[in-house]
Amino acid sequence: MSENTQATSQLAEKWQVWRAKAEAYYQRLLSLPNDSFEKTLAVAFWLCLICAVVVSFAAVALKPLQEANKAADMKRNILEVVGLYEPGMDVDAAFKQFEIKVVDLKRGDFVEDIDPNTYDMRKAARDPKLSAPVPKERDIAQVKRKPKYATVYLLKDENGELKAIVLPVWGYGLWSTMYGFLALEPDCNTVIGINFYDQGETPGLGGEVVNPAWRALWKGKKVYDESGQPVLRLVKGNVSPDQPGAEYMVDALAGATLTSNGVSNLIRFWLGEDGYKPFLDKFCGKL
Ligand SMILES: Cc1cc2nc3c(=O)[nH]c(=O)nc-3n(C[C@H](O)[C@H](O)[C@H](O)COP(=O)(O)O)c2cc1C
Repeated sequence: MSENTQATSQLAEKWQVWRAKAEAYYQRLLSLPNDSFEKTLAVAFWLCLICAVVVSFAAVALKPLQEANKAADMKRNILEVVGLYEPGMDVDAAFKQFEIKVVDLKRGDFVEDIDPNTYDMRKAARDPKLSAPVPKERDIAQVKRKPKYATVYLLKDENGELKAIVLPVWGYGLWSTMYGFLALEPDCNTVIGINFYDQGETPGLGGEVVNPAWRALWKGKKVYDESGQPVLRLVKGNVSPDQPGAEYMVDALAGATLTSNGVSNLIRFWLGEDGYKPFLDKFCGKL
């Protein structure tokens, strides 16, 4: 008998022994009264084990699908912030209108040696090698750590002419970190739109950051004043178009001052020196 066949038959023998033992154990368990301590414990144990295996399997098996859904959702949000999204559209095809670039936030230059399709700015913000802590006195958006590189999305028309710049932004509201996108016109100052794709504020209060009617108030607002400071902010009450400085103000969310302050702060942070200002200064060359 060859070594291989010997090993196989030994394995088969062992398997038979184990099967017999498992069957005996199962029969003994079945014969116990339902309210016995051992049976209760055994049922609870096996139930937990089977559930854990099913959940773990589902988590692992569904991960690629989840990742794909997340990527598609991100694309949909980016299309939405520039007003290009329509239900039922081919998101992947429409998203091809964007050129994705990685930007060195400190120097404000494009970085060519990082693949923009795989670079994850949110993940990088948690990686000590790819991020730096934000000093408390400057951390107005409570981001804690700031990635060294950012992903920006440049919307171009068929002639290659720039139509919009989409910037990822995030910051703390009342209950949660709100993650979103801000879209600017090619002047790097006029707002096209804003949206938040991940936030945990109270529905109906701070959660109104996702309300299309409120988001529509942002269109045409200016981020920077004449001195180049990011001054766009939310203010209580209704902003009248004729009031002085109205172009830098958006209505705050009713009953949600803390979320509103969070939005103002994240705009000030990400459009400031710690955020995209060095990039926008260079890119637009006039701020
Ligand atoms: C259950 C509950 C949920 C709340 N959710 C929010 C919220 O998401 N965002 C927020 O700014 N304020 C929220 N608030 C209100 C704040 O506690 C605080 O009163 C409010 O921000 C003050 O804003 P106001 O001056 O506009 O009322 C919530 C309050 C309660 C009781």
